[in-house]
Amino acid sequence: MSVLAIEAEALTRHYPVGGGMFRAAKTLRALDGVSFRMEAGRTLAVVGESGSGKSTLARLVTMIEPPTAGRLVVDGADMTGATADDIRSMRRTVQMVFQNPFGSLNPRKTVGDILAEPLVINTQMPASDRLEAVGQMLAKVGLRPEHRDRYPHMFSGGQRQRIAIARALMLRPKLVVADEPVSALDISIQAQVLNLMLDLQQEFGLAYLFISHDLSVVRHISDDVLVLYLGRPVEQGPKDVVFSRPRHPYTRALLSATPSVRASARAERTVLSGEIPSPLSPPSGCSFRTRCPYAVEECAKARPETKTFDGRSVACHRVEEISRL
Ligand SMILES: Nc1ncnc2c1ncn2[C@@H]1O[C@H](COP(=O)(O)OP(=O)(O)OP(=O)(O)O)[C@@H](O)[C@H]1O
Ligand SMILES: [Mg+2]
Repeated sequence: MSVLAIEAEALTRHYPVGGGMFRAAKTLRALDGVSFRMEAGRTLAVVGESGSGKSTLARLVTMIEPPTAGRLVVDGADMTGATADDIRSMRRTVQMVFQNPFGSLNPRKTVGDILAEPLVINTQMPASDRLEAVGQMLAKVGLRPEHRDRYPHMFSGGQRQRIAIARALMLRPKLVVADEPVSALDISIQAQVLNLMLDLQQEFGLAYLFISHDLSVVRHISDDVLVLYLGRPVEQGPKDVVFSRPRHPYTRALLSATPSVRASARAERTVLSGEIPSPLSPPSGCSFRTRCPYAVEECAKARPETKTFDGRSVACHRVEEISRL
C-alpha cells in the first residue's frame, strides 16, 4: 500500500472581480470542484489551455491561498480551517518549482545561500551540517561543488532549473508542485531536466503535481492525468487509458493537436475551433459546448455530472454515443 501524499475533494477557488460602488462584483470561477488523490512516487499531470485554472490549483495545493470551498488533506492532516501555524508547518511538506528559472532565484545570493535558506528558516540545523546538506543536494541534481559559490546569472536555464529543484528538495518534501517546469527551456534541455525529476522522484519517493500544456511532456512523465477546461475537470484517469482512448471531446482535441501523441487512428480527429470563452461568463450547461463538435441542445441545459466511464472519470452528456462513433 503506497502512502497517500495528498487528497483534494471538490477544491474550488472563486475570485470576486470588477466590483465598484454601484456595481456588484462578478464571480470568476477559476477552479470549480476538482478532486484527486496523490500517492508517494506518483505523478499527476494537470493539463488544459491558458486560463483553465492550473496555476490556481497549484496555489491551493501549496497553501499559498486557501480554497473558497472543498477539502485539502496534506500528508494526513486536513487543512480545512487550519490555523496559520498549522499551515506554516505543513508547507514544508509541499514545495513548488516554477516555470521561470530566471525570475525564481534571487540574483544577489549565491547558489549555496539559496539552497541553505530553507534550512535556515525552517530548521535548527548547525551551519556545518547545512553546508554538507547543500553539497549533497548539488551533487544529486548534477551540479558541481564549486557551483555553490556562484550566482544564478552564471548558469544556463537548465542549470538554473536544477538549482530551483534542489532548493525545493532541501526540506525533504513529500509533494512537489511543478508549474510548467520545463516550458521555458530549450527542447534539447527539457528531456534532461525531466529525467532528473524522474530520478529524484524515485530516490525520494516524491509525489509530483505536474502542470503542463505540452502533452508530449505529460506522456513522458505522468502516471495520471487531469484535464481542466475553464476551471472544471472534464476528464481524469490513468495516463495510458486517457492517452490511448480519450473520451471527452476536449481531451480528443488536445491530443489530436499533438502529433507525437496522437491517439489511436480509430479515435476521431477532433479539431478545436473558436476561442476559449470568458471565465466571467462561461456558457450554460457544459462549458465546453460552444467549441464542441458533438454539442446538442441538452448540453446547454445542464452541467454534465462527472461519471465513471471506460476506466476514467469524464464529464460529458454524450460520452457513450461519441465513443461509439
Ligand atoms: N487573483 C486572481 N484574481 C482574479 N482572477 C484570477 C486570479 N488568479 C487567476 N485568475 C483567473 O482565474 C483563471 C484561471 O487562471 P490560472 O492562472 O489558474 O490559469 P492557468 O491554467 O494557470 O493558465 P496559464 O496556462 O496561462 O498559466 C483565469 O481566468 C485567471 O484570469
Ligand atoms: Mg498558469
